[in-house]
Amino acid sequence: MMNPRKWVFILLLPFLFFRFCTSIDTITPTQTIKDGDVLVSSSETFALGFFSPGNSSRRYVGIWYNKITEQTVVWVANRDSPINGTTGVLSFNQKGNLEIYYDNTRNLTLWHTNITAGSYSARLLDSGNLVLFQGDGGSGGVVWQSFDHPTNTLLPNMKLGLDRRTGLEWLLTTWKSRDDPGIGEYSYRVEPSEVPQFVMFKGSTRVWRMPSWLARHSNAKVEATPSFIFNGTYVNNPDEVYSLYTLINESNVVVDELGSLKQVTWVGKWVEFYSVPKDICNAYGRCGAYGYCDSNNGREFQCTCLPGYEPRSTGEWFLRDASGGCIKKRKELSMCGNGEGFVKVAYAKIPDTSKARARIGLSMHECKEECLRNCSCLAHTSEAEGGERANCFTWHENLMDVRKFTRRFPNGGLDLYVRVDAVELAQHMESRRLNGKMVAMVVTSVVLTSVLIISLVCWLVMKKRRRALLWIPVWNSAS
Ligand SMILES: *[C@@H]1O[C@H](CO)[C@@H](O)[C@H](O)[C@H]1NC(C)=O
Ligand SMILES: *[C@@H]1O[C@H](CO)[C@@H](O)[C@H](O)[C@H]1NC(C)=O
Ligand SMILES: *[C@@H]1O[C@H](CO)[C@@H](O)[C@H](O)[C@H]1NC(C)=O
Ligand SMILES: *[C@@H]1O[C@H](CO)[C@@H](O)[C@H](O)[C@H]1NC(C)=O
Ligand SMILES: *[C@@H]1O[C@H](CO)[C@@H](O)[C@H](O)[C@H]1NC(C)=O
Ligand SMILES: *[C@@H]1O[C@H](CO)[C@@H](O)[C@H](O)[C@H]1NC(C)=O
Ligand SMILES: *[C@@H]1O[C@H](CO)[C@@H](O)[C@H](O)[C@H]1NC(C)=O
Repeated sequence: MMNPRKWVFILLLPFLFFRFCTSIDTITPTQTIKDGDVLVSSSETFALGFFSPGNSSRRYVGIWYNKITEQTVVWVANRDSPINGTTGVLSFNQKGNLEIYYDNTRNLTLWHTNITAGSYSARLLDSGNLVLFQGDGGSGGVVWQSFDHPTNTLLPNMKLGLDRRTGLEWLLTTWKSRDDPGIGEYSYRVEPSEVPQFVMFKGSTRVWRMPSWLARHSNAKVEATPSFIFNGTYVNNPDEVYSLYTLINESNVVVDELGSLKQVTWVGKWVEFYSVPKDICNAYGRCGAYGYCDSNNGREFQCTCLPGYEPRSTGEWFLRDASGGCIKKRKELSMCGNGEGFVKVAYAKIPDTSKARARIGLSMHECKEECLRNCSCLAHTSEAEGGERANCFTWHENLMDVRKFTRRFPNGGLDLYVRVDAVELAQHMESRRLNGKMVAMVVTSVVLTSVLIISLVCWLVMKKRRRALLWIPVWNSAS
């Protein structure tokens, strides 16, 4: 009796063989891809081959959309080692690594994968992922994939983040220019602190940041809505932290040469669905430390200070330079067991979380108590709604890069509670009380006025009627 596994194998053999013979999506150790050859994924979504970007004559190996007429490259292998002329070749070397070299001098390698386990085939998948499999027919699993080495484009189901076990970082880096896919100045990556966030850097300077979905050790999903056409997933656990998205049709997220992140979709042409930064308040730290940015605040300048703070330099603020940020209004007044409290800043883009603290499973009240108890705590926020328990975040230094969002978490902001001294707290209470009083006064006066007007009208009508009633008989009697 034959082993069932062997049977399956024998039955599958013709198909494997057939696929092997006809496949144009796979490179085997005996094949080479020369300039002009292309590898096409099984449903012809993506192609891999040699190309020249923009007006350049240099040759690069890349992956692009096969069906889209406008050349749209989503991945480049030899980004910083272009090929002069058309004698480049892509194939496996003896150790099982894929490499790009000049045909005539095989010892001049321009690019190569870096794996130790021998691999035997490379396949371009329909997702746009170039995968190296170990063993025949992929039986030994994936040993390398282009999705682990993103360039400037994030395709659906591609991770952006960090593998904490191996230290492998999935980050996007811009091209140098449209003609040069070499590694540019900007990079978009995760900052794996206690409360991870995604940051666009220019060199080592922060340009803007995206507050993460605030889940720690848990999964968060954001479902597609009309204004959010993709499903986003955020994962943060001891093994890895990343976000990825899935989307209909041909679309991707790309960082352009100027450091803006765009989500584009192909509808006969590329349309930009979403782009950051568009709003001036997205620029990192636009209003400095303890500042607050709101581009729709009805004033000429979008910067103000968080409750309890005032501009460090009124002169600079007058000149629309908020980089100096804000300082405490009453430096001498302690905020430690001295009648202090919190003032709410609604729908906030929470401050830079690189040094924030996270606590899991606290109620909104417990989160507040946690912050109040610790005199170094300057602000707190909670994902909890009503009485539920959720993540609680606290900040203990520079409250940086706070802005107003129009919507609430998870697509928008959270309510941020800023610690203020007793005087500020009293002023806020007073203004709230005054606001309450104002409302009451307005309501009362409206009611009173209405009553008056109605009474007057009634009185006039009644009077007229009475007069009429009285007058007619008089007239009648007079006639
Ligand atoms: C290529 O060169 C032409 C003419 O010089 C110019 O109009 C075009 O913008 C260039 N394209 C790129 C991608 O640089
Ligand atoms: C390719 O050409 C450039 C200039 O045209 C030259 O600087 C570079 O060394 C050449 N590279 C190779 C590998 O021949
Ligand atoms: C390539 O390698 C061979 C021997 O390994 C050597 O003789 C030759 O000089 C090398 N060529 C180049 C261009 O480095
Ligand atoms: C290959 O791996 C080695 C050791 O991990 C590393 O030193 C080297 O820089 C890597 N090379 C490339 C091209 O990634
Ligand atoms: C998003 O997720 C929902 C539910 O999980 C699913 O029905 C929908 O097809 C997904 N949309 C996309 C664009 O992946
Ligand atoms: C995108 O998907 C929608 C619906 O799924 C379809 O109507 C449209 O033709 C697709 N566009 C492209 C470019 O494939
Ligand atoms: C206050 O919080 C900071 C930051 O989490 C911590 O280092 C410090 O020990 C805390 N202080 C007290 C008294 O709990």
